[in-house]
Amino acid sequence: MLVPDLLIRNARPYGEDAVDVLIGNGVIAEIGSGLTASDGAETLDAAGLVLLPGFVDLHVHLREPGGEESETIETGSRAAALGGFTAVFAMPNTNPVADTEVVVEHVHRRGAEVGLVDVHPVGAVTVGLEGTKLAELGSMARSRAQVRMFSDDGRCVNDPLIMRRALEYASALGVVIAQHAEDHRLTAGAQAHEGVVASRLGLAGWPAAAEETIVARDCALARDTDAALHVCHVSSAHTIEVLRAAKAAGIRVSAEVTPHHLLLTDAALTSYDPVHKVNPPLRTAADTKAMREALAEGVLDVVATDHAPHAAQYKDTEWAAARPGMLGLQTALSVLVAACVEPGLLDWHGVARVLSQRPAEITGLSDHGRPIAVGEPANLTVIDPDAQWTVRGAAMASIAANTPYEGMRLPGRVVATVLRGRVTARDGKVHQS
Ligand code: DOR
Ligand code: ZN
Repeated sequence: MLVPDLLIRNARPYGEDAVDVLIGNGVIAEIGSGLTASDGAETLDAAGLVLLPGFVDLHVHLREPGGEESETIETGSRAAALGGFTAVFAMPNTNPVADTEVVVEHVHRRGAEVGLVDVHPVGAVTVGLEGTKLAELGSMARSRAQVRMFSDDGRCVNDPLIMRRALEYASALGVVIAQHAEDHRLTAGAQAHEGVVASRLGLAGWPAAAEETIVARDCALARDTDAALHVCHVSSAHTIEVLRAAKAAGIRVSAEVTPHHLLLTDAALTSYDPVHKVNPPLRTAADTKAMREALAEGVLDVVATDHAPHAAQYKDTEWAAARPGMLGLQTALSVLVAACVEPGLLDWHGVARVLSQRPAEITGLSDHGRPIAVGEPANLTVIDPDAQWTVRGAAMASIAANTPYEGMRLPGRVVATVLRGRVTARDGKVHQS
């Protein structure tokens, strides 16, 4: 199929000098000035706008199959396109769990049918996320879904022997194990970050050591198995020190931070509004500061949203009963701009590194996270760095509306998203073919 040309005029790649970018057959055909497109080609006037490689999110919950009251692959794909994403990794804590070839192939196929973003299913590490018996990693990796990341996210692979076996298989298969690092023995009943806010509110504490100790253990196991370990949603400054040492020792470990752990703190909990309940919990201002600096330094590799839609019946309840998680896809870029770009910690090259290049490298995607250059796949995001907008959960593409940024004015806006040369979102509207 011949994909029609798209001409992006006067865009600033990585915030640098303005150029025209001509796209044909899904790849960048030409970069220069005064370029013209064939008749009937779509044109995007990008004067003053920044052009970045399409974003890749290593951590989303699309809830399908089984949780369609909160999100579907279609609504989650729409949110992803509007947020500037061209590829997402869908976590396996669905119903049924994505622990077999059948389920991962279903998720993959449905993502391709919707066609707005490349949906890569993450396979479960253990059968039913139960933590006791390894799932068939090999058959999922070799399936049509080509699973390249495995995780029991939502739960930790707590048993060190199971984790070691998973890493051994991962090493042999050339895939990544993404760990939700939480020692459940230390967090039983936990409702909030263990600290002064939780004490004052009377909420049981989730100690930072529950994360740090699992990451230290897993780094040792990754060293012994020469496997690729990815640490999901790092939330504590202590964990950063473990990662720094492991990376210095040459261990194959990568790590992500969520937008909310860069911007929000447990001070938000004083409202008792469960929209702020998330796992791992929001921590202190010292932690967010450490997280931002580690991202700038590269000790934390990527920003991943942990987009976790929950319908009102699961979220608008008292704190203890509410499910943890918050929307992230449509606010990720803006939160990163507020937390790291505006304070001068990241420039646009840095944004491209943490939202596109590194996530693609970690999962071995060859067609995403590429530089903006002739011959490269045209997976692109156009953003207005000067725009400000007010977040409204009800106006988002997700079925659920649980955004912790409700009513906040945030900087930076996604103007258009391009997947293999096709515009998937433009000016806040999804373009479904
Ligand atoms: O807050 C969270 N929500 N953390 C997780 O690990 C799971 C996720 C979910 O599935 O809702
Ligand atoms: Zn998790």
